[in-house]
Amino acid sequence: MCGIIGYSGHRPAVPVLVEGLRRLEYRGYDSAGVAYIENNELTLLRAEGKLSALESKVAGCSHHMATSGIGHTRWATHGVPVERNAHPHRDNSGELALIHNGIIENYQEQRQWLSERGYTFASETDTEVLVNLIAEGRKHTETLQKALSWALERVEGAYAIALMSIHEPGTIYAARQASPLVFGKGIGENFVASDIPAFLPYTREVVFLEDGEMVTLTPSSWEVCDARTLAPIEKEVHTITWDVQAAQKGGYKHFMLKEISEQPKVVADCLTGRVDAASKAVTLSELEGTTPPKRLHILACGTSYHAGLWGMNLIESWARIPVRVEIASEFRYRDLLLDEDDVVLAISQSGETADTLAGMRRAKEMGATVIGLCNVVGSSVSREADHVIYTQAGPEISVASTKALCSQMTLLLLLALHWGRQKGTLSAEVEERAVTGVMGIPGILEAELPRMRERAQELSRKYSASRSFMFLGRGLQFPLALEGALKLKEISYIHAEGYASGEMKHGPIALIDKEFPTFALALHDDLFPKVKSNLEEVQARDGRIIALTHPGLDIAAEDVWVIPEVWGPLNTFLVLPCLQLFSYEVADYLGKDVDQPRNLAKSVTVE
Ligand code: F6R
Repeated sequence: MCGIIGYSGHRPAVPVLVEGLRRLEYRGYDSAGVAYIENNELTLLRAEGKLSALESKVAGCSHHMATSGIGHTRWATHGVPVERNAHPHRDNSGELALIHNGIIENYQEQRQWLSERGYTFASETDTEVLVNLIAEGRKHTETLQKALSWALERVEGAYAIALMSIHEPGTIYAARQASPLVFGKGIGENFVASDIPAFLPYTREVVFLEDGEMVTLTPSSWEVCDARTLAPIEKEVHTITWDVQAAQKGGYKHFMLKEISEQPKVVADCLTGRVDAASKAVTLSELEGTTPPKRLHILACGTSYHAGLWGMNLIESWARIPVRVEIASEFRYRDLLLDEDDVVLAISQSGETADTLAGMRRAKEMGATVIGLCNVVGSSVSREADHVIYTQAGPEISVASTKALCSQMTLLLLLALHWGRQKGTLSAEVEERAVTGVMGIPGILEAELPRMRERAQELSRKYSASRSFMFLGRGLQFPLALEGALKLKEISYIHAEGYASGEMKHGPIALIDKEFPTFALALHDDLFPKVKSNLEEVQARDGRIIALTHPGLDIAAEDVWVIPEVWGPLNTFLVLPCLQLFSYEVADYLGKDVDQPRNLAKSVTVE
């Protein structure tokens, strides 16, 4: 779970690398480093902590003549986050430098093997083992490329790597296996990185590398080959249409706030080309020629899992398809019952989450069809799924996922309508109300967001001293209660639990006292009377309550937060930003690092 970048061209390389790392920092940020060749010397600069620490080091060094190099921002997997474990790593001779995102699973065994041959290690990392293995490979092969291939054959696990050698200034070798890697084709310069924004200011021409592929790049050439046989592979060059502006803060204090505010546009973009305003027909061209699943398994992690729980309700109700929603890290190791009749819907913003990918691979092996619902074009989920539906939410930079969930919910609603229509289980009235209603959501959200932010700000001042929080909801609001708790804990570090309101009496109510507030989702639906009595139980224990509710509802709470009512399930689209803004305001008020919370990374590409 790190970010890597390699550059070879005509510009001073180090500023290009550091700037690229800045745009990859969302992938991990406990240390960073660069390597470059200048005056026939291979120099490594590394620093513990955020990128600014590396920038200070870079500012004090000579590097202006270096026109190629590699850079890395790290999120520790092997070895504590200190400078000696930061990348790049050198081999014992000091001639090679390597950066790596992923985990080499058999590195202990390889380390032992190399130690017996006299190699020594300055860090605890698997990467230092790999770079020495490549050095060993050089003794058995004629070229560095062959040595890299030799070493990769001996390692197991996940990697995206970039390698340079003092003997070949200007040449970078990169390869991938189960970790993301894209090549950027420039004019007189070439790039390789974990993600496109790293090099987007310089080129929009990209090549998505697949597992088992290696790319060799110089300023004026590039070639992709099979990492094992070194046989050349023809690759398609794609042109990226979004610009780097879209990946910047655009005047907001934090990416998270910007991304919450983008949700009206996100819903509108998800509907574009999929919903016909006149006929109200939903078209998912991505599923053309397919029939509705007999059984559906939704597979996801974290926030995307909450989207799945929400979507299950609509798909079961409108399309009458039995749905199981599974946490991917559990699913992948279960004794599964799957066959050709099963469809797996893998939901992932990044499309790189290791558990989700492993789960979908198992499902495919067992004959199930996999549909990927993801945001990042060209990501592993999108490439490996049998069908892919893009959420079109644009790059999500803040580590806490916000607009991605909104886009996933929109697409799940469209999927339920699409399958319901195909199966004939959807009533015309529901279809009409859902389609008309969802088309109205962007306008309503746009108008309401400023008021929501104000209310979230007021409440954050009052409740930010709490040590714990309970989030309660029932039915369609239950996944939202889980999401509200996840958002609060991940960015403000306040302990929070999401519960189905009806479960309170089975245990958690014991926690309630004056110090343990409850954020209740008490909307106008069939379950309102039940939620109301659940909240009375909380009040009877002196519990303080924030009730997010609809106009005209009679609810006793210390703080009532009224939002406009829309049709049925669409209310969730208004609940979601309230929960996101509440967490955001609490975290910002407490002075937390909202966009880069501790211990987290944006895409979880390790188990
Ligand atoms: C929470 C969050 C995570 C992700 C989870 C899955 O704010 O961002 O819980 O939702 O790591 O990530 P994706 O959707 O990229 O598979």
